[in-house]
Amino acid sequence: MPAPTTFTTKEILELLQGKNDEALYAEADRVKHAVYGNEVFVRGIIENNNICARNCHYCGIRSENSALNRYNLTADEILDCARLIRSQGITSVVIQSGESDTTSNAQIADIVGRIKSEIGADVTLSLGEKPREVYEMWKEAGADRYLLKVETFQKSVYNPIHPGYSLNDRIKCVENLLDLGYQVGSGFIWGLPGYTLELFADDLLTLQKMGVHMYSTTPFVAGAGTPLATHPAADVETIYRALALYRLMAPKVNIPVTSACASLDSMSKQKGLRRGANVLMLSYTPDKNRKDYALYAGKNTVSSEKLSDLQNLVDVVQSVGQKMVFHPGRSKFER
Ligand code: 5AD
Repeated sequence: MPAPTTFTTKEILELLQGKNDEALYAEADRVKHAVYGNEVFVRGIIENNNICARNCHYCGIRSENSALNRYNLTADEILDCARLIRSQGITSVVIQSGESDTTSNAQIADIVGRIKSEIGADVTLSLGEKPREVYEMWKEAGADRYLLKVETFQKSVYNPIHPGYSLNDRIKCVENLLDLGYQVGSGFIWGLPGYTLELFADDLLTLQKMGVHMYSTTPFVAGAGTPLATHPAADVETIYRALALYRLMAPKVNIPVTSACASLDSMSKQKGLRRGANVLMLSYTPDKNRKDYALYAGKNTVSSEKLSDLQNLVDVVQSVGQKMVFHPGRSKFER
C-alpha cells in the first residue's frame, strides 16, 4: 500500500503551478489504482431544500438572495428519492441542503434511520454546522459520513465572505464529526477572492494533518444574486493538480470529481478519474426543484433522466478504463 507523501509547501506550490503535470498525474493515477484498483464509487445526492440562514458571499442560496424560489422536500419526498436511487442499484445516498432547521434535526434522524433500515443504503449528510449533540443524534440514527467543507483555512480569505461567522467554529464542527466516528469529507473552494496558490498549498498541508476521509475542492463558479456574481471562475487545472496532490498526500481517501468542475470543463470526470479521483455523484433531486438548487451558475440541469444519466456516468467511467461499482464506497482511510 503506498505511503502518504510528505511535501514541503514549496514543493506543493510548484506542483500547483504546473511544474510537472505529466509526472504528477501519472503518479496520482498509479497510487489511486494501488488503493482502489479500477473501481469508481457512485453516490446519489438529494438536495432536500435550498433554504439557508447563512449569507455566504459566493453562494446562490444565501439568505439575502430574494430572487430564488425556495423549496423544501417533505420527508416522504426525500424517501421517494432515496428509493429511486436504491432501485437503480446505488447504495450510497447523500442528503444536502441549505443550513437551517427547515427540516428539523429529529426529522433528519428519522429519515436517516429509514434509509438505513428500510431502503438499505449508506447515508452521507451535508447539512452544515450543527451543535455536537445534533451530529451525535444523527450518528446514532445511522449516518455514516458527513461532508462539511471548511472552504479555506485562511482567515484572511474566510472572514470577508462569511459575515458574522467564525472559521474556528467551522473547524470545530469538522473535529467533532471526526471525534464522533463519522467518515468526514472536507476541502476548499479554489478561486475565492484573495486565495493565492501559496495559501492553497498551505491549506492542503493543514487538511493532511487534520486527517479527513474524503477530500473535496470545488472551483469557484459565480452564482447569480451573490456579491461575487462578477468574480472570475477558478482555473480548473489547479483543481486537477490539487486532487492529484491530495491523492499522494493521503492515498486512501475518497476523492470526488465535484459537479462545479463539470460546469467549467465538459471532460472533467474523465480527467479527474485519471488524475487521482475515485468518486462521482449524481443528483436525484426532483425535476421540479433542480434548477432552484442554484449554488452557482449551471449547478443542475433543469431536468434529468435518472436512468440514462446513470448509464452516461457508467459509460464515462468505462471510457477511461475504469469500472463503476455499486457498493457503498467507504473510504479506506483510517485515523
Ligand atoms: N462555487 C463553488 N462552490 C460553491 N459552493 C457554494 N457556492 C459555490 C460557488 N459559487 C460549495 C461550497 C459549499 C458546498 C455545498 O457548495 O463548498 O460547502
